[in-house]
Amino acid sequence: MSVRTLDGVDVAGKRVLLRADLNVPVQDGHISDLTRIERLSPTIRELMDGGAQVIVCSHFDRPKGKHVDTMSLAPMARALGEVLGKAVAFVGDCIGPGAQAAVALVANGDVLVLENTRFHPGEEANDPEFARELASLADIYVNDAFSAAHRAHASTEGVAHLLPAYAGRMMQAELDALEAALGSPARPVCAIVGGSKVSTKLELLGNLSKRVDVLVIGGAMANTFLAAQGTNVGKSLQEAEMHATARDIMAEANRAGCEIVLPSDAVVAREFRANPPTETVSVQAIPSDAMMLDVGPATVQALQDRLPDIRTLVWNGPLGAFETPPFDAATTTLARSVAEATAQGALRSVAGGGDTVSALRHAGVLEQLSYVSTAGGAFLEWLEGKTLPGVAALQSSSP
Ligand code: 3PG
Repeated sequence: MSVRTLDGVDVAGKRVLLRADLNVPVQDGHISDLTRIERLSPTIRELMDGGAQVIVCSHFDRPKGKHVDTMSLAPMARALGEVLGKAVAFVGDCIGPGAQAAVALVANGDVLVLENTRFHPGEEANDPEFARELASLADIYVNDAFSAAHRAHASTEGVAHLLPAYAGRMMQAELDALEAALGSPARPVCAIVGGSKVSTKLELLGNLSKRVDVLVIGGAMANTFLAAQGTNVGKSLQEAEMHATARDIMAEANRAGCEIVLPSDAVVAREFRANPPTETVSVQAIPSDAMMLDVGPATVQALQDRLPDIRTLVWNGPLGAFETPPFDAATTTLARSVAEATAQGALRSVAGGGDTVSALRHAGVLEQLSYVSTAGGAFLEWLEGKTLPGVAALQSSSP
């Protein structure tokens, strides 16, 4: 993936508009996970050390073109200051005279955070005038927000055509990891796809079945595939209207030489709550009044046995209802084995998507895979094989 990077770019004395993704999880008014902000710091430090005036812009949440107090980026600016160990300025608009005045006060090596770009309707509309206003704040544009790159918005796409535009270090690392996982991977490649609905992951399954050697299907999605083959899945969550589609996906995978692996056993319960009475049964023996809430130990063992033969693993979606114990067991056990195989140097492991990140954190191995993307929708669109507009804009020739 050849995007323009910051290598050899002289930023000294230049105003750099840095598109970050400060759309971080907030609970009760507090930022509950700083990962996205922490991962941004290498790019910001490089720009600061290079003598740039760093002007950070981002969206937060979905204010739909209006100023919404609770969606201000002021708390994220404070958190960024704490992560950087340096005061970070903040201005309550991202364009206009207020923003222009604040930018004029930024010294070389200093950082200013602009208010939420989505407070203006021009952001999501990718309005050329709004993009021009943003561009007028800077000499150079750097996009370090892979997780927002699936949006063709003014701050992720439009502005990249108005200024010399480069990928930040996090964007670069993300693209390198993704290219190594699916672009030109070491084979065999295995993808694990979990989650609840086939319908939301159709394109992803279609694309992966053409590109990977083994496709493991877990989560409630596996119920749909099992049921499509005539297995009685009892009261398990499944999409009856997707059976024909599931059969098509299996037939296509077969034609493409991709082996689809479904669970062979299941942990079932009669009610979905924490720690109910459970049974472990073959998928052929799911009681009609029970539901499958996790894949069983034989399925996990079979996957663990395969790991030594796999060179590249792409993981999106947990194997079971991991947020509710004990249905986290399969995901946690497999995640630890993946981390071990990665540590031994035999496996390149790339994971992403909101639930997957939480599941890996829960298993205590978030830092132990080769790369874990903090992107949600962007990671899914990339798995679907789509061109992300925010990335494409960094590949086109300079304005
Ligand atoms: C994300 O959190 O996935 C990105 O920031 C994109 O947010 P959006 O789905 O509101 O565009």
